[in-house]
Amino acid sequence: MGRQYFFLILWITVLVPGAFFSCSASAEAAIKDSDFDQLTDESEAGAYKTDPNVFDTDGDGIGDGEEIVSGTNPLDPRSSRIIDLTREDSGILGNQEQWPWYFARATGVLAFVLLTIVSVYGLVISSRAFQKIISGATAYELHRTFSWVALGAVLLHVSSFFFDDFLKISFLEAFVPGVLKRDYLSALGYDMGLAVALGIAGLYFMLILILTSEFRSKLSPKTWRMTHYVSFIAYLAFVAHGVMAGTDSRETWMQILYTASLSIVTTLVLTRILSRTMIPKIRAAWKASVALADQSGGTPPQA
Ligand code: HEM
Repeated sequence: MGRQYFFLILWITVLVPGAFFSCSASAEAAIKDSDFDQLTDESEAGAYKTDPNVFDTDGDGIGDGEEIVSGTNPLDPRSSRIIDLTREDSGILGNQEQWPWYFARATGVLAFVLLTIVSVYGLVISSRAFQKIISGATAYELHRTFSWVALGAVLLHVSSFFFDDFLKISFLEAFVPGVLKRDYLSALGYDMGLAVALGIAGLYFMLILILTSEFRSKLSPKTWRMTHYVSFIAYLAFVAHGVMAGTDSRETWMQILYTASLSIVTTLVLTRILSRTMIPKIRAAWKASVALADQSGGTPPQA
């Protein structure tokens, strides 16, 4: 009997408080917030992968808890800056003062589509694979006409920023690469200065390509051809500019447009390389084998 009492007293004095304290310790750990960022240490170490002892893990000036609530990434210093500093897109009918911005975006996309078409016709002319589908003269006229129309679209695109109250662009900023500097990032988180510098470079490349082609007769064929290779760099510059600067780069339709353009142009570049290197070699080899078969009186191989 004495032993029974002994175990009962032991149970009450040691085990019950022990169980109580261990429960309250784990409960405390579950609600503990060492860095006072409104996220528990447990959720920081587990779900969010942020530092439970640091109020602002990515050091962008906005606490981890606030970033989670506003939907930005507490591990990426750029994500909160994009949301905070990029202007609100309320839709073309939502804000009358924003029309220059919508016009700039529309003409930017138009210029991009037109420049893709220009690149396509250029590659069609230079590769020998499409001679049966479109005559060289027609492709050349289309290439030339679309270049001028695209230049017009680019000039409209740039001019609209002069009326834009948010970008507040000056003449120098619009035409001298590297002059424009802004403390906010583009929709995809790129530096606006670099993104715009690429667009300005694209514009100058376009001017060089158009003017050297219009005055082609004044240049040696080699000089013109070497200058026209700038077109490859120009294409990459305006793709990079559009992706990096554009608000619509985060939209699926725009991403499809960029991917489609890149796929078409890459395919045509490869076709051009093959049609100028491999295909003439294959043709020559086939002709040689036909001539050999004729001489020896055998049957020519099938093409
Ligand atoms: C070859 C020349 C150029 C082409 C093909 C081009 C094309 C584009 C495209 C496709 C976009 C994305 C539009 C969108 O996402 O809706 C864009 C955006 C932009 N472009 Fe250009 N651009 C060119 C030159 C320039 C130049 C010279 C400037 C100088 C001011 C410039 C300034 C901008 C800016 C600031 C944006 C961001 C607009 C926004 O907030 O969405 N671009 N451009």
